[in-house]
Amino acid sequence: MNILVTGGAGFIGANFVYYELENHPDDRIVCLDKLTYAGNLQTLDKAMTNPNFRFVKGDIADRDCVFPLFEEEKFDIVVNFAAESHVDRSVENPEIFLKTNILGTQVLMDACRKYGIKRYHQVSTDEVYGDLPLDRPDLFFTEETPIHTSSPYSASKASADLLVLAYARTFKLPVSITRCSNNYGPYHFPEKLIPLMISRALAEESLPVYGKGENVRDWLYVEDHCAAIDLVIRKGREGEVYNIGGHNERTNLQVVKTILNLLDKSEDLITYVTDRPGHDMRYAIDPTKIHNELGWLPRTTFDEGIKRTIQWYLDNESWWKNILEGDYQSYYERMYKDR
Ligand code: NAD
Ligand code: DAU
Repeated sequence: MNILVTGGAGFIGANFVYYELENHPDDRIVCLDKLTYAGNLQTLDKAMTNPNFRFVKGDIADRDCVFPLFEEEKFDIVVNFAAESHVDRSVENPEIFLKTNILGTQVLMDACRKYGIKRYHQVSTDEVYGDLPLDRPDLFFTEETPIHTSSPYSASKASADLLVLAYARTFKLPVSITRCSNNYGPYHFPEKLIPLMISRALAEESLPVYGKGENVRDWLYVEDHCAAIDLVIRKGREGEVYNIGGHNERTNLQVVKTILNLLDKSEDLITYVTDRPGHDMRYAIDPTKIHNELGWLPRTTFDEGIKRTIQWYLDNESWWKNILEGDYQSYYERMYKDR
């Protein structure tokens, strides 16, 4: 199989590149990534020497880059991770989210139509379902839950999902979609809750918790997400949507306190800051479909995964410290100053 992985220099895409190279050593993986602020070639260091891996710098929304690559490589499978992925940045500047997340998806699928593929897979998110109320713990997102978005980010991801399903019906493109809950693990960019809190706690800096910290996320260790996508692209049914999540719900405050406890740091570092506009209250996935059809189950509990993640950040300080030294500082100032 020749597999195109877009966005493979980002958090989940890179973990997926490593998962594929390890579990399918006969397959070839080509990574197409624009290397935005969230993309990091250092993350792919260990893949670069593998003869079955090729990295190409380019924009999924740029036809002049995407079409020749498809012509040259004759891909069997395309897995689209490339996206602008941070909700807070989408509140600040929605436009690039529409361009990459929607138009980029269109360009990739147009190339799939022209050059032919066995499967186009869209990596989507549980955020397309909106949120659930805190006082109804019996409710979960299923694949039938209506699309109901809150942020420019989730609206762009939902738009892409609709376009993917439209290409399946109108052009008979063989597609699949996975909608996953919050991931965590190695190579997670430190603008997101868990790596931001780990890096700041280690430096004994204040930990900015939005609102009261009572919002709930359903955490999934990134390797479990990669295993689920791998199953769907090889064995999942065409035209189907699969939800991925591991019943690991935690409030943000629980997550932050767990990190502080494991690092033996004081809870006095917690600082409550102005809430995110339109902040979703609770995400919770019902993964029954992928379990019943493909036998997928998460392997990593939150208690185990968060320990492993913290250990990874302790062992790979130079990876995240390099990021903190760059444009990240002005991002942090902009987002959190006077908040
Ligand atoms: P990320 O922000 O860490 O990485 C995104 C990658 O895409 C980066 O390497 C970036 O350089 C690249 N990219 C951005 N724009 C591009 C473009 N126009 N052309 C080519 N490459 C481009 O994101 P992530 O957290 O790894 O998320 C990956 C995918 O998974 C996204 O589609 C996201 O919506 C989805 N998702 C993420 C989570 C999560 O918890 N992080 C959960 C569910 C779904
Ligand atoms: O659910 C899947 C989604 O998970 C993905 O589609 C997104 O790409 C990914 O970024 C993530 O979105 P969230 O908005 O849930 O993740 P984030 O890490 O930004 O925030 C998690 C929670 O923590 C959320 O309730 C906001 C809160 N938060 C976040 C930051 C960065 C804080 O309280 N303080 C912070 O500084």
